[in-house]
Amino acid sequence: RLELRCERDGAGAELRLDAHPALAVSRAALLPPPGGPGDAAGQELPVESRPFTSYGSALHIALPQAPRAGQLLTLLIDYEAGEGPGVCWLSPEQTAGKQKPYMYTQGQAVLNRSFFPCFDTPSVKFTYSATVKVPEGFTAVMSATTWEKQKDNTFVFKMSQPIPSYLIALVVGDIVSADVGPRSRVWAEPCLIEAAKKEYDGVIEEFLVVGEKLFGPYVWGRYDILFMPPSFPFGGMENPCLTFVTPCLLAGDRSLVDVIIHEISHSWFGNLVTNATWGEFWLNEGFTMYAQRRISTEVYGLPYTCLEAATGRALLRQHMDATGEEHPLNKLRVVIEPGLRGVNPDDTYNETPYEKGYCFVSYLAHLVGNQGKFDAFLQAYVNRFKFQSITADDTLGFFLEYFPELKEKGVDSIPGFEFDRWLNTPGWPPYLPDLSPGQQLMRPADELAELWAADGLNMEAIEAVDITGWRTYQLVYFLDQVLQKSPLPEGNVKRLSKMYPKISKAQNAELRLRWCQIVLKNNLEAEYSKVKDFLHSQGKQKYTLPLYRTMWGGSEATRALAMETFSATAPQLHVNVQNYVKKILGLEGAE
Ligand code: BES
Ligand code: ZN
Repeated sequence: RLELRCERDGAGAELRLDAHPALAVSRAALLPPPGGPGDAAGQELPVESRPFTSYGSALHIALPQAPRAGQLLTLLIDYEAGEGPGVCWLSPEQTAGKQKPYMYTQGQAVLNRSFFPCFDTPSVKFTYSATVKVPEGFTAVMSATTWEKQKDNTFVFKMSQPIPSYLIALVVGDIVSADVGPRSRVWAEPCLIEAAKKEYDGVIEEFLVVGEKLFGPYVWGRYDILFMPPSFPFGGMENPCLTFVTPCLLAGDRSLVDVIIHEISHSWFGNLVTNATWGEFWLNEGFTMYAQRRISTEVYGLPYTCLEAATGRALLRQHMDATGEEHPLNKLRVVIEPGLRGVNPDDTYNETPYEKGYCFVSYLAHLVGNQGKFDAFLQAYVNRFKFQSITADDTLGFFLEYFPELKEKGVDSIPGFEFDRWLNTPGWPPYLPDLSPGQQLMRPADELAELWAADGLNMEAIEAVDITGWRTYQLVYFLDQVLQKSPLPEGNVKRLSKMYPKISKAQNAELRLRWCQIVLKNNLEAEYSKVKDFLHSQGKQKYTLPLYRTMWGGSEATRALAMETFSATAPQLHVNVQNYVKKILGLEGAE
């Protein structure tokens, strides 16, 4: 049931909604105004689904007459959502407990049009409510400010703040919860709930409090975390009130908590102030990376945060090397034309909006030159644009308005650093924030990587370095350096593997990813099974695609490994991830 208000006159007598071939619409009707006379079943309307893009269709609904500005319309649409890209149905084998089936939805960027007909654009915000009836023994949760269990396994949800369509999310499964803070609980399958509670008990609240201090009130009420089945394609998804995360975060030592801080940061950047189009996705992710690292700096200090940011910079380097700096998706502002030939918004998910976006926000902070003043700007920005959807022009216009002395100086047109260049030129960022406070943590890792890349290994020097006390991100940084220097001289990686079981036998997903990449780049056939095992154990896009790219760009043996692994794991991957892998492997199906 859609409640709409006509914004202006002259719109015509047709309503067009986003939908998907996987949605079977059986009926559309116009309901009488509330309290007024008329048939409660409504007046049936002609409805037709037409081709629109490669990722959805258009639902054309003919209205009895053109609505006038201000007029309210209530439409009732009967439909069934099946096997669409936004609604994932998992068999028991695809869950952690392997006992009961599971379903979840993933809306971002343009998948919710296969969940319900709507204006599936981040430029439109609305409240929603849902009544969900599930079979006995299942629980439903949604991204909603309130929920209530009624009789007959029926759950009622309400989201009382306006949000864009991509943030509506639903999970139905055998899930239970445990409190981890005054406004936070974790949700997981019963077999994971103890581990989930242990991972985050007592740590979430501090991030929320620091976020509120920096960016203003947390408006969403609760902040809960749901651990998803292993095939969930993202590290985290900032569904309001209820972040979805990969079970890979259950590292046992809280070492991957940066993902949680990231999703919490979306509570202000993305969920409150939202990019109006997916072509400016960096407004969500670049500001969120900046906010994440501000919270991290307050909680863990500058050296650690700079180390984490350096691993992000390495990812941007790898991404630009893989795609070519001049690739059109390596611009902060991507042109997304509607229609069948336009860019699929989901294809803009890469390191550029994140890490180049982070550099641009850091550059704005650098122009201001004072952290306190820039923090105050961020808070004013959230307050100015909360519950709205905006463009980069709004952001940068507000920045110049907020700092008139910078506007006067013409900071938007300093040669080489023009705002316009930041937005519209592909390639490496013209400004990089200073990460040297992280040097104390990075230098030992840099030096150790040098030693391992040498032609006759200096074992004495290597053995003198004790890595037992290193943090996960120090090891990640070390492995990124080793990877960059790979292939190493014959035999080195084999020795490295024996020397550091903490790395080569790691359970931590970030370490496993890097280790697998090193194994492949160095043709360490003896450990190829680790690549296979890792790809069987989870389906995160950012882990899966780089490994397939490396395998496909390698030897006959790694190509065979890629094919074998994909044919075994494809059914458990998210369909988007499946299609991207197919594209890498030159198989059909990719758009
Ligand atoms: N909103 C994104 C995930 C996303 C992006 C889903 C695009 C669909 C389309 C989420 O906030 C995110 O960025 N997750 C990262 C976390 C990381 C940057 C700490 C991830 O999944 O890797
Ligand atoms: Zn994000």
